[in-house]
Amino acid sequence: MLQVEEIHKSYPTPGGELEILHGVTFKLDEGESLAVMGPSGCGKSTLLQILGALEPPTSGTVTLDGVNPYSLPESEQALFRNTRVGFVFQDHSLLPQLTVEENVLTPLLVGPRDPEAPARARRLIEEVGLVHRLKHRPGELSGGEKQRVAIARALIRQPKLLLCDEPTGNLDQQSAGNVADLLDRLQRERRMTIVLVTHSQELAGRFGRRASLAAGVFAESRNGQ
Ligand SMILES: Nc1ncnc2c1ncn2[C@@H]1O[C@H](COP(=O)(O)OP(=O)(O)OP(=O)(O)O)[C@@H](O)[C@H]1O
Ligand SMILES: [Mg+2]
Repeated sequence: MLQVEEIHKSYPTPGGELEILHGVTFKLDEGESLAVMGPSGCGKSTLLQILGALEPPTSGTVTLDGVNPYSLPESEQALFRNTRVGFVFQDHSLLPQLTVEENVLTPLLVGPRDPEAPARARRLIEEVGLVHRLKHRPGELSGGEKQRVAIARALIRQPKLLLCDEPTGNLDQQSAGNVADLLDRLQRERRMTIVLVTHSQELAGRFGRRASLAAGVFAESRNGQ
């Protein structure tokens, strides 16, 4: 489903090329989940951006269901991002002037029309436990609720791959637990493939596979726990 081969990523700096990722390779089947941990600045967000067709690698390949987004023309890359991948960030990045329902539908503002989307938005909002908050605006929601809206928004295009960058980083323990339960459920019931970056051992422990990124080197822990 997701195949990542020998990803290297460097950024040009005044002092020369700065290599952030030194050859990341892994494969995830449909319905598998991977948690990635590592110190600040080690390249976790960079890796997620590369997986999500937001930032091309310097070398190496990413393929999702056999398609390498970076080999597509720019307009098709945008379509790929919009329809094949869902993103959830640490900061929910909801639009403050829109309601919960409208926020969930924002990915539909670009890309293909989808007449089923409004009904799906309602179902997703119900699934994340916020059906009583449809017409609320983000300012009227708790941090955990906002993050659950962000997850519903990430799923509106029915992507198979969900990329989460510290989705519980700003939440208290209880809200973080709710978000973790929701991700768990999505993975089990919808067979979502999830790659999640977190600083929380507890959250990472709930994922099927775990890896660390340190000094640009990706290593998967194989001991089961
Ligand atoms: N556009 C850029 N140009 C140059 N350097 C960059 C760029 N984006 C990121 N970096 C550098 O790449 C490194 C990795 O950044 P990244 O955001 O991936 O780290 P991270 O592991 O997500 O950290 P954190 O846990 O703090 O979120 C950092 O040292 C950062 O300064
Ligand atoms: Mg980061």
